[in-house]
Amino acid sequence: LLPSNLKHIAIIMDGNGRWAKKHFKPRSFGHKKGSENVKKIIKTCINLELKTLSLFAFSFENWERPKSEVNFIVKLFDNFLDTEAKNFVKQNIILKISGDLSKFPSYIEEKCLKLIEKTSQNTGLTLNIALSYGGRQEILNACKNLCCDFKDSKIKIEDIDFKAINDRLWTSDLEDPDLLIRTSGETRISNFMLWQLAYSEIYFTSVLWPDFNELELKKAIEFYKTRERRFGKV
Ligand code: IPE
Ligand code: IPE
Ligand code: MG
Repeated sequence: LLPSNLKHIAIIMDGNGRWAKKHFKPRSFGHKKGSENVKKIIKTCINLELKTLSLFAFSFENWERPKSEVNFIVKLFDNFLDTEAKNFVKQNIILKISGDLSKFPSYIEEKCLKLIEKTSQNTGLTLNIALSYGGRQEILNACKNLCCDFKDSKIKIEDIDFKAINDRLWTSDLEDPDLLIRTSGETRISNFMLWQLAYSEIYFTSVLWPDFNELELKKAIEFYKTRERRFGKV
């Protein structure tokens, strides 16, 4: 089913709050539904034999939301790590996390690092969760890294190329996304993977994230199949 040039799908999982509102529930209810949907979409991607799935779960800017909502999402993620830890091993998932984990309580950061290490020898789906993630923050961080390496004479200016920058991103070991999906009807990037999305196909759908199911994913893949990727060539 998957076209051979579709290796990496990235999803901006948006619309939990509006889904909750539509069902006359608090926003937290939408986040809970959304996190349950994450598990389903991961399973679908494994069945499709996708190589890499990136999920935008929490942005750097999302820290600015009310404390109660932020705390709820952090707790949800903590639960997710606990309940999925075993499954990741069983499902042969390689877990990656991109973002500024230092903003989390240190016990969560440690849990993440442990699980990343524990799944690093797996061979199935690479699952990249973007958490406390911002594209500009990521590029800024890479710039600082480069400057340090220059100062320490580890790199010369003439050796700074795309790869040198890419190697210093949080996603350094991933290929660029082929397809970006954003749910909930918003048609913006919201600071997601600014460097990596340079030539990705983009699919916007008005479906809210908790309702985004296997059928909707297949619609996005069908859309992708109709695209001719030219990369600036003719
Ligand atoms: C996406 O859903 C989840 C996060 C950003 C954490 P939202 O919480 O942004 O839902 P809406 O956009 O308010 O509907
Ligand atoms: C983007 O959604 C971040 C995630 C889905 C995690 P937001 O809801 O935060 O983005 P804006 O505010 O609509 O741009
Ligand atoms: Mg939103």
